[in-house]
Amino acid sequence: NSIEKACFSWSAPSNIALVKYWGKKAKQIPANPSISFTLNNCKTITSASFTKKDNKDDFSFDFFFEGKPKEDFKPKIQKFFERIEQYCSYLKEYHIEIDSQNTFPHSSGIASSASGMAALAMNIMSLEKALKPEISDDYFFKKASFLARLGSGSACRSVIGEVVIWGEHQNSNSSDLFGVEYSELHTSFQNYQDTILLVDKGEKQVSSTVGHDLMHNHPFAEKRFGQAHENLTQIKQILKEGNVEEFIKIVESEALTLHAMMMTSMPYFILMKPNTLEIINKIWKFRNETATPVCFTLDAGANVHILYPVNVKEKVLQFIKNELVVYCQNEQYICDQIGTGANQL
Ligand code: PMV
Repeated sequence: NSIEKACFSWSAPSNIALVKYWGKKAKQIPANPSISFTLNNCKTITSASFTKKDNKDDFSFDFFFEGKPKEDFKPKIQKFFERIEQYCSYLKEYHIEIDSQNTFPHSSGIASSASGMAALAMNIMSLEKALKPEISDDYFFKKASFLARLGSGSACRSVIGEVVIWGEHQNSNSSDLFGVEYSELHTSFQNYQDTILLVDKGEKQVSSTVGHDLMHNHPFAEKRFGQAHENLTQIKQILKEGNVEEFIKIVESEALTLHAMMMTSMPYFILMKPNTLEIINKIWKFRNETATPVCFTLDAGANVHILYPVNVKEKVLQFIKNELVVYCQNEQYICDQIGTGANQL
């Protein structure tokens, strides 16, 4: 091929799972299917410049975060390149300079692995497209999601679509290998809001890699995987019909089940903080007293995602300001909503 130098830039969003992925098999195959809302504002913006080199024996790359070299992130990227090498034989022919930044405050406890790995995968696919202009858009996005998955499982849900399913599931045309958009979204869920309360910005004590691993030999694993399949069947119907009340039940149960799996693994661990529980209780009280259709979900950490329809936005933001910001570190929270996926810049 003839490309000596190429530069690309992509943004990719974070996503929040409604039915959680927790537990995996070899080669980043999920133990159960999951579904998520793609976010809009919490993004990673990554530029990659590829320069042809002579030596094709090793990967060669530099990584900059917010303009500064960041060595401690390089092993993760090295591992990612090794995993995708067999699908991207052209990678070793280039020296890659990667420049990344997040739109959300860094070390906010918001996982940047999904947005970060998705943004990097998009850039790699741009190089592939430059080398092979004949590849279709469908192939481009499917393979981008496939590659992102090999970086961080949930990253495959950050490539394209507002709602994305990952993992084989009865009657879904979904795959274990990449995310697939679920497009039957009722108007009640359009522009659905996600306000993220930053409860704890510290490093997680237990990484999600370790957490996934602890689902091997977990006493409740099989029951849990079965439940995720059932919840996915139900939530697909709920999203299609616009049943916000039923949506709340599944989403909150999924969040608590995720954390219940952590508390019942061996070794066991707890990622929620006292303020996580304070917030959950306040949300339940507010919902009971005002009949506002607001609910919470959690990822593998202490922060709380508050999900609600756009038509109650003012009311919920007022509630958050009045009653919940006291439980946030430095009173910090991030207003986000459903977005559509990665964008080339
Ligand atoms: O993509 P990972 O390996 O960081 O795992 C993410 C797991 C959860 O965020 C807890 C759930 C999910 O489905 O995103």
